[in-house]
Amino acid sequence: MSEVETTEIRSYPMARSCPLRPPGEYEQLREARPVARHLLPSGRPVWLITSHELARRVLADPRISSDRTHPGFPLPYPIEDPEALRGLFRFSQSLIGLDPPEHTARRRLIIPEFTVKRVQSLRPRIQEIVDGRIDDMLAQGSRADLVQALALPVPSLALCELLGVPYADRDFFESRTKVQINHNSSLEERQKANGELMSYLDELVATKEEVPGDDLIGRLIVKNREAGTLEHGELVALAALLLIAGYETTANMIGLGVIGLLENPGQLATLADDPSLASQAVDELLRYFSISDTAGSRVALADIEIGGETIPAGEGVMALSLAGNWDPAAFSEPERLDITRDVRQHLAFGHGPHQCIGQNLAKMELEVTLTTLFRRIPTLRLAVPAEELPYKGDANTYGVYELPVSW
Ligand code: HEM
Repeated sequence: MSEVETTEIRSYPMARSCPLRPPGEYEQLREARPVARHLLPSGRPVWLITSHELARRVLADPRISSDRTHPGFPLPYPIEDPEALRGLFRFSQSLIGLDPPEHTARRRLIIPEFTVKRVQSLRPRIQEIVDGRIDDMLAQGSRADLVQALALPVPSLALCELLGVPYADRDFFESRTKVQINHNSSLEERQKANGELMSYLDELVATKEEVPGDDLIGRLIVKNREAGTLEHGELVALAALLLIAGYETTANMIGLGVIGLLENPGQLATLADDPSLASQAVDELLRYFSISDTAGSRVALADIEIGGETIPAGEGVMALSLAGNWDPAAFSEPERLDITRDVRQHLAFGHGPHQCIGQNLAKMELEVTLTTLFRRIPTLRLAVPAEELPYKGDANTYGVYELPVSW
């Protein structure tokens, strides 16, 4: 391997010089070497894929694995203790860290819960949740932190709807999810909230095993009785995975979506004039921000020839969604937010067999939240300049920690 040029990455994700644009290196890499070998801060090698076409190709390749415990999996930071590693990724084993054929079978079981039809049946409740939060914002004055007031509660309560969390438990659920990801909470507070949530999910599954309700967990319990496919522990792990995968991601995207539209008033006006563009606008915002820096982290199980390079078996691969989604070969003038462009092939939800299973839900939440917010508060504006907001440059999922707005 020594003859292959390898660049060291000192911090991951890479730093951005402008908070609303990808790191400059992405463009340089795409132009010079769209499949390039790097060393992560963990010391593990990784091949970064920065072209849209090659990212799609590698993510659809059956010779890659999503197994986080594989010694070649591209962990950005070192985790020496194998126990800690297993603990960190224990929920991945319910879906996202599985390979075929286990992955295919598990996904087939869960996918009916995320069809357009099923998700649309949740829409009236999501609309009520969004309206309720905006009522509270308006009642409290003319300023708010939109992250606390809207971006965090909406996906948390949407998950309650999905999982069938009873109304009486929703304040508990929402408060603990908030603490769990709040950067101002101490490590102890976060761990405590996490422990309480996991015990709660365990009890929730146990209650539904007694009396399955008409919700995701209830339906999977019934299916399990028929087919014997998902045990108690696996259901708890799946519920936890949905929480991990569907909460902060959607919340971050709500915050950034608001910033994206306020910073592009022409696009906001186009959307206000023609609300039928909402779905396309959400996809364009997803492309523009690509909050999950990697569309997929994998390890090669065989030598893979791609883009004129050979990724050797056992080495990591990261298909960078933000780099692929700003590839001018796929999206002309990628730096222009254009809610009318055809953006169907974006990589914000990944690509291939692990493509986001919750994407219909995330998109519906974003559509309802953004269109309702700007319809009900047309004078909404940022209370501080966009470039001065506290961005999550240090996190895998991009977003803002706070979003002060006024109206
Ligand atoms: C997978 C992004 C919302 C559940 C993924 C992947 C990406 C992604 C990039 C692919 C990971 C990979 O290939 O390794 C996002 C973004 C979201 C979002 C940007 C919000 C804007 C949600 C929601 C849920 C969800 C709302 C469910 C409630 C999942 C699950 C997987 C996944 C379970 C794993 C699928 C599999 O392995 O087959 N997501 N996601 N996500 N997402 Fe999402």
